[in-house]
Amino acid sequence: MTSQGTFYIRTYGCQMNVHDSDKLANLLHHTGFSRAEDDAEADLLVINTCSIRDKAENQLYSDLGKLREWKEERPGRFLGVGGCVAQQVGDGILSRFSHVDFVFGTHNLRWVPAMLDSARQGQRRGDTKEIRSLDRFDLPQKHTLFESVTPGRAFLTVMEGCDMFCSFCIVPRTRGREISRPAEAILAEARELAQRGVREVTLLGQTVNAYGRHDLGRGRSQQAGTMAFGELLRHLDEIPGIDRIRYTSPHPLFFDEALIEAHAGLESVCPHVHLPLQSGSDLILKKMRRRYGRDRYLEIVDELREAVPSIAITTDVIVGFPGESEADFEDTLDLMKQAEFVDSFSFKYSPRPETAAADLTDQVDPKTSQDRLERLQNVQRGLTLAHHRSRVGEKVEVLIEGPSRRGGGQLRGRDRHHRLVNLLAEDPPSPSPPRSGDLVEVDLVEATPHSLIAKRSSAQQLSRAENPRGKAEPLRI
Ligand code: 5AD
Ligand code: SF4
Repeated sequence: MTSQGTFYIRTYGCQMNVHDSDKLANLLHHTGFSRAEDDAEADLLVINTCSIRDKAENQLYSDLGKLREWKEERPGRFLGVGGCVAQQVGDGILSRFSHVDFVFGTHNLRWVPAMLDSARQGQRRGDTKEIRSLDRFDLPQKHTLFESVTPGRAFLTVMEGCDMFCSFCIVPRTRGREISRPAEAILAEARELAQRGVREVTLLGQTVNAYGRHDLGRGRSQQAGTMAFGELLRHLDEIPGIDRIRYTSPHPLFFDEALIEAHAGLESVCPHVHLPLQSGSDLILKKMRRRYGRDRYLEIVDELREAVPSIAITTDVIVGFPGESEADFEDTLDLMKQAEFVDSFSFKYSPRPETAAADLTDQVDPKTSQDRLERLQNVQRGLTLAHHRSRVGEKVEVLIEGPSRRGGGQLRGRDRHHRLVNLLAEDPPSPSPPRSGDLVEVDLVEATPHSLIAKRSSAQQLSRAENPRGKAEPLRI
């Protein structure tokens, strides 16, 4: 195949976007492109955008302003915009920015090579049609040139879209209606990943544990080839080589007994759940249209703890939602402490176009929101550090990601609870230090607010008998 030049993809936002960028990179490899180190070097630049909060959307406009020069620097360069802002604004991006060559929506990744062909013939195209069939999952297998940024780990889409319409959230508009992939396609992809050395899969979906629910509800899961989420986990757990299964993000409404049982009974399902709370006030949860109250949320936390006592629960919280009083906010702080969240992502409410909450008039003033955000993050810091301190002395399994930001020859990785672990350099250096993608056993020796510090365990290798999974190959140390 003749070389088409080099590409670079700038990705903003959530794991779905990171995964979409990977899918696009793979597609571009199949089209004859190779990856550039950065955008200065690239012939094709694609921006994969996020619109969850206004800050993320404004980032795109600021980027595009600066990229006029990039485009003019070298003839034959192309600039594409995809993702959630593209879906939301559509052709408007083409009319506002004359140096953008093509715009594609969240369901239209597959058309990027064709749009690029049109651009080469001087035709600027925008395609943001919603595709309600499974066709959009029909993407080529991994190209030999495709390299995962994180060896040993991979994302795996199980469902897309969202039908929940929480009053603050733009996602149902940018990602469209819920659609679940047939289980066999998911399992086949997981088997292929395992064969390529992937040890950890993260199942992706906007409301991932709603997987298959519409088919089940309509009595057509057999035709559609879907099943309940708990059952899907059971099948994935049986795949040899897949040692860790994670999923993000579940919705509390679909957190059923089968999912709790999966945590209790399936060895590869990791002891970590990221369960978005949004608010600890019943009144605010109602206005957010979340369809659960604080008691139900805490009941799920209790059930999870009963099933897996060491489970790490993390969350998302929004402060300053319209009408949030000091008492509502204190309910959130109180719930956070009761749930003992190990970590949380917290955001100031940002009104989004065409969402129900955008019309609410009782906005919280920005200073109060900022103050609440800081108070909440302060509480979280205390909870995170307490969790880290309680872990010191444990022997844990870490999946190595690469060099640590702390330098000094340290490596970074994640334990099964999804905590960041920095592994001290060995003294004297090991003749075969761990590589990215390896699973190693370490001793946790110190706690910091952001990570756990560890040393390689003297028991150098987890043998098959000691390996709690019992099904994996002996670990390379
Ligand atoms: N404003 C602030 N935060 C938001 N999120 C979603 N929509 C908004 C919004 N309009 C947060 C939620 C969600 C996370 C991905 O982003 O907490 O779980
Ligand atoms: Fe947004 Fe709510 Fe859907 Fe999550 S469940 S993507 S917060 S609408």
